[in-house]
Amino acid sequence: MSPPAAVDMQSATDTQLATFADRLSVNGVPSRRSRAPKLSGGIAAHTSSDMFKSPGRGKPRAKRWDHRLTEESKARQPSSLKGATKYLAKPGLISLGGGLPSSQYFPIEYIEAKFPQAPHFSEQETQESGIVKRTGKYDIAEGNGIYDLHVALNYGLAAGSAQMLRYVTEHTEIVHHPPYQDWACCMTIGNTSALDLAYRMFVTRGDYILTEAYTFSSAAEAARPLGANWIGIAMDKEGLLPSSLDSVLTNWDPAAHNGKPRPWLLYIVPTGQNPTAATQSLKRRKDIYRMAQKHDLYILEDEPYYFLQMQPYTGHDAPNVPPPASHDAFLKTLVPSLLSLDIDGRVLRLDSFSKVIAPGMRTGWITASEQIVERFMRHGEVSVQNPSGPSQIILFKLLEETWGHAGYLDWLINLRLEYTKRRDNICYACEKYLPKEVATWDAPMAGMFHWIKIDWSKHPAYGKTSVLEVEDEIFQAAIERGALTSKGSWFRANLDDPGDEVFLRTNFASAPMEKVQEGVRRFGDALRAVFHLKQANGVAKEE
Ligand SMILES: Cc1ncc(COP(=O)(O)O)c(C=O)c1O
Repeated sequence: MSPPAAVDMQSATDTQLATFADRLSVNGVPSRRSRAPKLSGGIAAHTSSDMFKSPGRGKPRAKRWDHRLTEESKARQPSSLKGATKYLAKPGLISLGGGLPSSQYFPIEYIEAKFPQAPHFSEQETQESGIVKRTGKYDIAEGNGIYDLHVALNYGLAAGSAQMLRYVTEHTEIVHHPPYQDWACCMTIGNTSALDLAYRMFVTRGDYILTEAYTFSSAAEAARPLGANWIGIAMDKEGLLPSSLDSVLTNWDPAAHNGKPRPWLLYIVPTGQNPTAATQSLKRRKDIYRMAQKHDLYILEDEPYYFLQMQPYTGHDAPNVPPPASHDAFLKTLVPSLLSLDIDGRVLRLDSFSKVIAPGMRTGWITASEQIVERFMRHGEVSVQNPSGPSQIILFKLLEETWGHAGYLDWLINLRLEYTKRRDNICYACEKYLPKEVATWDAPMAGMFHWIKIDWSKHPAYGKTSVLEVEDEIFQAAIERGALTSKGSWFRANLDDPGDEVFLRTNFASAPMEKVQEGVRRFGDALRAVFHLKQANGVAKEE
């Protein structure tokens, strides 16, 4: 019997209801909160997503992944010390057991942070009407809330604090509503670290990992020293091509791959991919998921840019598309995640606060089946231990106490509109300054990157020079003129194969808008010089 199609199952879940009412209430988060007992999240409090999510009755259970876990991962036992912290919840217990220092010696009495109040998010508005939140050492004992510094500054558990785990679990349910029963979240110190842990769970030296032909270089670099080999799958502006994935797997020849059987681990960035900015449509995601079912793949869905999906690009002269009018309308503008299609529990999704709050928080979370999250935590508790307490409590004060789920969605809508302005800015600059004879691009739909393709067959030395030499010549010529870009070849999944195309990656989110304009102008001048084209100002070409 063939596996059930992701799409068919999705229509059987209450995700469908979301088209008729606000997802914030449909997914039951506010009513569950109002019925739940007050959260007590003391020092290293035991917690799990099960305490905070809907029961998911009627949904299938995740498949087991024992056949995919490494020997290392299977061998992990619960940490004895972390395990003993469950007794701390026993009333009246005097702890002589653990290694926790006394909060008496934490030299911080309180911290204060000023946050913007939704929907007044600009720096100016924050200065004028932002709200100052103070968090003291003993707020809980003093009846001032459910999280304080005496908890946050002490050791915690790998799942994260109960206070933040509740928030991310509810957020995941509101946004993705995973269609199987036994999903769970675990806080992380960001996607880079979470990926590192995941590789150790799934990759044995010599294994092959599937990914897009151009991929996030740190993701690839983290796996190579573990002995992993990358297989880059052909892609277009919607990312990885399911037909190419199918063909690579169907025609896999172990003899040509050190005797290794067909790969089964797929690492992808479906939204605003780094470096290409490709964003998979819903159809593309469904096709990839079906392919994953066909070949029994396990997917690492790395999604730091998920909420940097922008308004449609309309070009210079057409009017802008109006912003989403409600939270529900906003959520519906987002391409559904692979997690939201995942009836088998074959996706480990990585979310990060890096691109939507601040990278220095070093905080994110994963969502996967309970089996996988449990293995992940076993590794986490003896490596990263727990995400930084100060980061978690600052996020809690902002996301939970100041914004709530609705205010956070307002913030994400605000980011959508801000990024749209910046994306439009770089597209207009490219239209104005880049020589169209050699440079082409698609307006990005998500993320922070603009991927520019250069037709290197127009290079004066084409046929006598290599793709990497031309790429380097452009890169250096741009630096000489004061513009830094990233070389496409840095992101090749297969470093031994430079491909036959030249790409440069630019970031439109970081520099001020007028500097981006100037940077693109300089880049345009560099291209004209390298390709011996007339300069934009009409003066003679540079030799
Ligand atoms: C695809 C991708 N994954 C992960 C990261 C890093 O995420 P984090 O800051 O959560 O480690 C980045 C950032 O550059 C990225 O582009």
